[in-house]
Amino acid sequence: MNFFQKLFRKPKTDAIYEVKSPNERVVATFMVDHGHISYFVKKDDKTVLRRSKLGLEIKDLPPLADNLAVVRAYSRSINDRWQAYWGEQREIQNRYNETAIYLSETAEPHRLLTIRFRVFDDGVAFRYEIPAQPEMENMIVSDELTEFSVDTNSRAWCIPAYQPDRYEYNYEEKSVFTLSDSVHTPLTIQTPVGHYISIHEAALYNYGSMTIKMNNSSLKADITPLSDGMRAYVELPFSTPWRTITIGQTALDLTVSRMILNLNDPPAGDFSWVEPTKFLGIWWAMFVGEWTWAPGERHGATTEHAKQYIDSCKNLGIRGLLVEGWNEGWEGDWLENGVNNKFMVSTPDFDMKAVTDYARERGVEIVGHHETVGFVDNYENQLEDAYQFMVDNGIRYIKSGYAGSKMMINGRREFHHSQLGVLHYQRALELAARYKIMLDVHEPIKGTGIERTWPNLMTREGARGQEYEGGALSPSHACYLPYTRLLSGGMDYTPGIFDVTNFTKRVATTITRQLAYYVTIYSSMQMVSDRPHLYEVNFPDLYQFIRDVPSRFEKTVPLLGEIGKSYVVARQEWEGSSWFIGGVTNEEGRRVELYLDFLEPGYNYTARIYKDSDDAHYRDHQLGYVIEEKVLRRGDRLEIYMAPGGGFAISIRKQ
Ligand code: NOJ
Repeated sequence: MNFFQKLFRKPKTDAIYEVKSPNERVVATFMVDHGHISYFVKKDDKTVLRRSKLGLEIKDLPPLADNLAVVRAYSRSINDRWQAYWGEQREIQNRYNETAIYLSETAEPHRLLTIRFRVFDDGVAFRYEIPAQPEMENMIVSDELTEFSVDTNSRAWCIPAYQPDRYEYNYEEKSVFTLSDSVHTPLTIQTPVGHYISIHEAALYNYGSMTIKMNNSSLKADITPLSDGMRAYVELPFSTPWRTITIGQTALDLTVSRMILNLNDPPAGDFSWVEPTKFLGIWWAMFVGEWTWAPGERHGATTEHAKQYIDSCKNLGIRGLLVEGWNEGWEGDWLENGVNNKFMVSTPDFDMKAVTDYARERGVEIVGHHETVGFVDNYENQLEDAYQFMVDNGIRYIKSGYAGSKMMINGRREFHHSQLGVLHYQRALELAARYKIMLDVHEPIKGTGIERTWPNLMTREGARGQEYEGGALSPSHACYLPYTRLLSGGMDYTPGIFDVTNFTKRVATTITRQLAYYVTIYSSMQMVSDRPHLYEVNFPDLYQFIRDVPSRFEKTVPLLGEIGKSYVVARQEWEGSSWFIGGVTNEEGRRVELYLDFLEPGYNYTARIYKDSDDAHYRDHQLGYVIEEKVLRRGDRLEIYMAPGGGFAISIRKQ
């Protein structure tokens, strides 16, 4: 008999615990039934999740799922507020009821397991905690048995997991019943009774990332395996990431839930040095074929080009300049040769010191670039020196990249989303924090709210971005993102392409829609992606919106939208009184009515509206736009037309 069993002589192999949200509308019920553990979830007395299994399979031992008895349960209520360093909302309320159920096996090997539930007004979270226990220092999780039993007639919006392009796929709407192949989270679902839910995870550390698949008529966690098939090697005590079910009455409700951030710990130190920024890039010129990453006649990252772009940053009021292709490793087939990438050696035509000095004198900062191509072993060997090299050159921002279908870790090919991948991203992030470096991670591990703890994780890619334009993106894509990928945090979508009609890389949007992205797709490091002459010479009138829009917000108020069809959102400037509205539509044109109820009463506001012309179209009239000014007050109604594949942006300033 272990300690807990001695303490509580009569362990309960049958028990039920209800955990209610503070407003009592969401109820998670945990059950032990003849030693088996499960849970179900209701909102307003309607089923969200039917009875769903819980448990972990442990290699060479019986699963931690049966023969369990409750030895103790402990509940508490929390209601506090915290301030973000940046984000979609400055002040966040964290309010939930929690019950931790302490379990013990009634049979050999008498292991202990705690399941902790937190129920918020906007969802349910739980995690497994394996306490320190006698004669057991570590465990190998060979499977996680967690189910999310939604009605199989539900609809889901998803992207496939375990594919070569990681998270970079187009969203598809499917019946939940057909999800026999794993899909990534956040997984957005509409149940037949009308709830919108998002299944995801929070605080993913040192564990495989969760994907989801249909298994015996129930959705089940499928933890990304390591190359040996195991899901996680853990040392006790250990907690899994939180399994989360965000619940809304509408799809827009999901977009304002802060539950994922709330489930993460407060900042791991002082991050007052972190600063959101916009940045230009020696970048899109490579995508349209004018320049190359690799050295040669058309090399983009030369000292001369960098200086020209720095001058443009200064003109345009943009703090950052990303320089890609500055280092050794891009020659030949860079996707295959990443094992040779050097992160401290510039190409001969790029003088890092001259460039960073020139930038500093003009109040501009270089955003360094580390393309690892997934060769993690090679990167980790250099990581500390590579960060030091950046710091020595006054660089505080780094865009990192992990292109490649798998990572090379410890000499083996592993999924980016496996435990070893997760561990690498975390090591790089924590080391960056030590060097006071802010990161924009491409080909990342998905967001699980850890930027609350590590606010130097400024943004990520982790979905198809604008680099897929030129054929592989349809206008509906950016109308799926707010309800799916963006529920996991900000994204570097690389907005602001004004050369929309370019023959080599035609962008399936109208030009004003490019402005909308600065509001509809949140990122604390927001790229201004096109070449500077597009802003300085061709469209300075449209550029004005990019100049004005901030990269962090006081508040976010979604105005309207439907998954895959449209999204319109208003955001208030951080500690300010201005508002910014962005709206996007899919292939269909639509006229929307906006009610300006969020403005402060009693004031006049000047609105500058950047919108599609009546004859604009993402296919054949991308440059049709109108800019107009209006005086607006709280309660006013504004009607705006979005052309097919179009969108609009509005800046609203108090007079
Ligand atoms: C893919 C990234 O998403 C893109 O932004 C970058 O330019 C290339 N990899 C090269 O690193």
